[in-house]
Amino acid sequence: MKVLLVTGGAGFIGSNFIRYLLEESGYAGKVVNLDKLTYAGNLENLAGIAERFPGRYAFVRADIADGEAVEAAILTHGVDAICHLAAESHVDRSIAAPDDFIQSNVVGTFCLLELARKHRERIRRFHHVSTDEVFGSLGPEGQFREDTPYHPNSPYSASKAASDHLVRAYHHTYGLPVTVSNCSNNYGPYQFPEKLIPLLIANALEGKPLPIYGDGKNVRDWLYVRDHARALWTILQKGRVGETYNIGGRCEKTNLEVLEALCAILDKRAPRPGGSYRELKTFVPDRPGHDRRYAMDCVKLEVELEWLPEESFESGLDKTVQWYLSNREWARRVQNGEYREWIRRQYPL
Ligand code: NAD
Ligand code: TYD
Repeated sequence: MKVLLVTGGAGFIGSNFIRYLLEESGYAGKVVNLDKLTYAGNLENLAGIAERFPGRYAFVRADIADGEAVEAAILTHGVDAICHLAAESHVDRSIAAPDDFIQSNVVGTFCLLELARKHRERIRRFHHVSTDEVFGSLGPEGQFREDTPYHPNSPYSASKAASDHLVRAYHHTYGLPVTVSNCSNNYGPYQFPEKLIPLLIANALEGKPLPIYGDGKNVRDWLYVRDHARALWTILQKGRVGETYNIGGRCEKTNLEVLEALCAILDKRAPRPGGSYRELKTFVPDRPGHDRRYAMDCVKLEVELEWLPEESFESGLDKTVQWYLSNREWARRVQNGEYREWIRRQYPL
């Protein structure tokens, strides 16, 4: 693996993954970051990377569904492996407007697979990054395993499930060298403040209400994003072709527990004049079709590939809060849309 194409590298997980690859993993090759720069793509997430790793990082602005542009990137840079993260990723947006989810997540993945098939002589690995949400919703007991039947409930999870099935089918039918990972909820630096944790931090610091959907007892499994990046690198190196791997933090929390933990850290690190951040908690109407509980059995990844999360929820959340406190300019530019202006000037489509 000398030239790795990372799709969606300007997003939250993609940018953390590229940073991990170049800064920490020991990977000696080149990374080509291919990203359409939707509202969720932000090249500030990778500020300084091109300068610090000359010749080992390239950026291509393209839509994964644009076969010609992606093929040109593959041939120009000599890509020999793909790690596919590009997707529309926010459940609430998928409920409001599912179209882009079908286009990018399903059609986009299909286009990439077609190119991987066409250039199978050079593409030696196609890793597809997916979510635990494809498995549906759990009751109070049990965990998702790799062989749990798919039961996606939102347009987002249905689009990811469709892409997972396509990836699997391209392995079964054409022998494409694929691996798939299904990961639980990530949190950490550079996460767009529409997802629960960065939204709560951003609102808290502005003294705005902290919205909790429904009764706040929905459960998610939380993983610090660097641990996800480590897992992806582990699977790229050691994962068995044709296999899928669950990734999770063994860290189930209700949304109310997440809010409590965040407020406790914020109360310590950035005390709010006039009382605890908890006082900003506001129950709002529930998300339609809101999945009750996700939980992951990750024994396969832990035993077969010897991966374990390094960060606890407490340490990961504290690092995350500290990062948002030290990077308020990043958050300000994301919230007021300034980062879009810069992208429009630098990379007109
Ligand atoms: P994100 O929304 O922060 O970033 C997505 C990136 O993909 C953006 O940079 C965006 O510009 C790019 N993109 C979107 N459509 C594109 C297209 N058609 N062509 C090229 N680029 C496009 O998402 P994220 O949270 O970093 O998630 C990355 C991947 O990980 C997704 O596939 C998501 O389903 C999966 N995942 C996310 C989580 C999580 O908790 N965030 C958990 C498990 C799996
Ligand atoms: P989210 O971060 O959108 O991730 P996902 O829906 O993919 O799990 O939401 C995480 C949980 O937090 C989910 O149960 C919905 C809930 N939530 C709120 O209660 N309030 C909010 O403002 C948001 C964005 C999410």
